[in-house]
Amino acid sequence: MRTHYCGLIDEALIGQTVTLCGWADVARNLGGLCFIDLRDHEGIVQVLAEPDAAEVFKVAEKVGYEDCLRVTGTVRARQSVNNKIKSGQVEIIATRIELLNKAEPLPFHAHENPGEESRLTYRYLDLRRPEMQKMMRTRIKLVQALRRWLDARDFQDIETPILTKATPEGARDFLVPARLHPGEFYALPQSPQLFKQILMVAGFDRYYQIARCFRDEALRADRQLEFTQLDMEFAWVTERDVQDATETLIRDVFAEVMGVELANPFPRMTYAEAVRRYGSDKPDLRIDLELVDVADLVRGSEFKVFTDWADHPEGRVVALRVPGGATLSRKQIDDYAAHAAKYGAKGLAWMKVDDAAKGRDGINSPIAKFLDDTTLAAIIGATGAQAGDLLLFGAATYKAASDFMGAVRLKIGKDLGLVADAWAPLWVTDFPMFEWDEEANRYVALHHPFTAPAVDDIADLRANAKTAVSRGYDMVLNGNEIGGGSIRMHRSDMQSAVFELLGIGAEEAQAKFGFLLDALKYGAPPHGGIAFGIDRIAALMAGTESIRDVIAFPKTTTAQCLMTGAPSPIPDAQLAEVHVSVRPKA
Ligand code: AMO
Ligand code: AMP
Repeated sequence: MRTHYCGLIDEALIGQTVTLCGWADVARNLGGLCFIDLRDHEGIVQVLAEPDAAEVFKVAEKVGYEDCLRVTGTVRARQSVNNKIKSGQVEIIATRIELLNKAEPLPFHAHENPGEESRLTYRYLDLRRPEMQKMMRTRIKLVQALRRWLDARDFQDIETPILTKATPEGARDFLVPARLHPGEFYALPQSPQLFKQILMVAGFDRYYQIARCFRDEALRADRQLEFTQLDMEFAWVTERDVQDATETLIRDVFAEVMGVELANPFPRMTYAEAVRRYGSDKPDLRIDLELVDVADLVRGSEFKVFTDWADHPEGRVVALRVPGGATLSRKQIDDYAAHAAKYGAKGLAWMKVDDAAKGRDGINSPIAKFLDDTTLAAIIGATGAQAGDLLLFGAATYKAASDFMGAVRLKIGKDLGLVADAWAPLWVTDFPMFEWDEEANRYVALHHPFTAPAVDDIADLRANAKTAVSRGYDMVLNGNEIGGGSIRMHRSDMQSAVFELLGIGAEEAQAKFGFLLDALKYGAPPHGGIAFGIDRIAALMAGTESIRDVIAFPKTTTAQCLMTGAPSPIPDAQLAEVHVSVRPKA
């Protein structure tokens, strides 16, 4: 239908006849001349219909916004150059314009952002917007670069089932009724975890898959119900082998797609250090603010909140120095306290340092009266607070204080423009093996139940489960967990022991994971791997906060597809076929 793309017409084509197809981005009739900006996926070119060409002019006059056109014409130098577009040096003098499809008035214009609901309802129009085209193309380039890298290194691309058995990754499963097995269900995979491990037992050595994963969990800007992983597994490896290979992969892909050189090697940090210094297991290292433990300094004070938690075996009292933060108003500090409260804070004590040298007289704080001069001086010393700084304090359990102070650190960093214009990757390692779930009254796996413990000895693991460290690792970029993986248990007895510690009895383990336990018995090599969140990496590359911008047809935060109307009710007859009856809503 066409000889060239609109956005690629340039001076080299001057004098030539071209045929283009595209949408009428703008059409205007100026003093007897008709101008049409014709747009395709490559960009825009200006088309001019002159009244001399009466037939052409008649069509051009009627062209409306987003009509589909086919235009034949001659390329000529443009009189008023438009430097904002690639083809701005030239224009097309139309000799023929065909109206291929008239567009009805659109709900919104391709150059405006009409708000989330309209965007997702008319996703095809949203995706037509140049901004969205650009972000989606970044994702496509990312996936191409990943595949090229992996294929060149002989990773085996193997598909695994979508209709499968539950693999616990910590979320709820999506279930599919099995018509041929009344009352039974398939689960959609939360990840290909067990299949990729079994592929290592089966001798494939290095596997990858661009895999869709399904998790029925609360949605956020960085979470969707279905999302895409670059899933990888390696046989005969240690964690360093997996990390070195995949760090190179990510570095190479960033260089290729973004022209960005990431640090070589990536910094490494244990989970304990990340939580201690940044209050997070995915620290954003672009923000140069750190938490400072002050429990030892305030233990003898008269501020009960501090002393209670300083003396508590699982307590933490921590300070955050905000450079220049003394100019923050009471209202602003209250807003940070409200933000901290969302992460479990009961309060957020503060101290403005007007003049560090003046001791108590240089300090403005509602809690200063509870702290003696030595304590005040020790806090100023430990935090390195200078005149004009603000100190914020959190006291709670170690976990809660870290969480809410970590959240405050991030927000203040962003609000005060303290986020460096940089790419800050790192590995976080040495995660705890287990986390105690108060509600369920049992341990849960911090990574997943197939991650190996650092110790090789089952008795040792049982005796020290509470403090056991795993062989799991995460890759973090600019405060986002972009990948997570581990060395797995390759011995059946160790895997069984871990199931037991997780409160999964022998019978349940056999019913749910018998195939894995069996496979591990028949010569399973040591193996490990990782999965990267492609949506998250694409969003970071595209410079957007939400992974929805790099997913063609995402769900809303209420788990719906506004374009198709999914999910939707199913007629009774169809439900009967799959042996399902719906309970009335409670
Ligand atoms: P994990 O659960 O850490 O590991 O997932 C790996 C990566 O996938 C991305 N991710 C998500 N992205 C969008 N929406 C979601 N709901 C979502 N959940 C996770 C994150 C995360 O780092 N089987 C293991 C991998 C392994 O051990 O090899 C797994 O799935 O970027
Ligand atoms: P109160 O004595 O409860 O009025 O608290 C005095 C100050 O301490 C206020 O600024 C509170 O926000 C703060 N505060 C209260 N509880 C905590 C806590 N757990 N951690 C940090 N600050 C707190």
